[in-house]
Amino acid sequence: MKVLCFGSLNIDYTYKVDHFVGKGETLASESLQVFGGGKGLNQSVALAKAGVEIYHAGAIGEDGKFLLQIMEAAGVHTEYVMELTNVRSGNAIIQNDREGDNCILLYGGANQSITKEHVDRTLSHFQREDYIILQNEINELSYIVEKAHEKGMKIVLNPSPMNEKIFDLQLDYIDYFILNEIEAGQILRQDIKDGYNGAELAEALLKRFPSSSIVLTMGGDGSVFMDQKETVLQPVYKVKAVDTTAAGDTFTGFFISGITKGLPVIQAMDLASKAAAIAVTRRGAAPSIPFLEEAERFTL
Ligand code: RIB
Repeated sequence: MKVLCFGSLNIDYTYKVDHFVGKGETLASESLQVFGGGKGLNQSVALAKAGVEIYHAGAIGEDGKFLLQIMEAAGVHTEYVMELTNVRSGNAIIQNDREGDNCILLYGGANQSITKEHVDRTLSHFQREDYIILQNEINELSYIVEKAHEKGMKIVLNPSPMNEKIFDLQLDYIDYFILNEIEAGQILRQDIKDGYNGAELAEALLKRFPSSSIVLTMGGDGSVFMDQKETVLQPVYKVKAVDTTAAGDTFTGFFISGITKGLPVIQAMDLASKAAAIAVTRRGAAPSIPFLEEAERFTL
């Protein structure tokens, strides 16, 4: 069984700020650091650091060669990443405030230059029961879902950042939804009533997508896994946040690493939660992701 992540690669420009810049405000930042990021890249790096043989597909411009080096150093296979000459790499302007929270402005760049031919060529190397992991930062997502389903691949969707394009996808084909409460509420837009808690949201999603597994992250309240067989509630490991960037990606990568290795869901959730807790104590996206051994021995 092989694991493919078809997703974004971004150059993250991370500005340390006192507070997020407001409308009409000009704010001097305290520092600028440049990191490898993008939800796709981060999730691939997390899977690799968790010990999974992972293939990444996506696209970069000439300015993004260091993103390949970051992935390769972590052990990610990069032969399905296209290097384009006519477009710059995707990038993210990230403000990281005093509390460690962030806000992110994205520029799609090469991430939005995926072609159907690239998708077909990449998927020809994968087969039934292989896993494909997707986020919402590349184009041709709908085509990828359709083709991966045709092949019988197991499809993991992290519908982030959430927007209308998610409704173009055949969501019934998704085997694992990994999402936060806001994204879940948006997907359930016709059904959702104010005041739903996390477990109720997961239940509502499962009702809508009965053959899927739902992993709902709830910030400080932890996360919940739900499918037709079991429900697992995972409390959060509370740490002092320095930078929350890529914490969700770390959670996704480590959770799926556990599932593909056949761990019981309860263990995969716990491992993902520990890895994400470590990631928020470190700056940056990809560099904040721990290795498996660190996550396994993490205690508060
Ligand atoms: O999830 C964090 C990531 O979101 C950042 O690395 C940034 O590039 C954006 O894609």
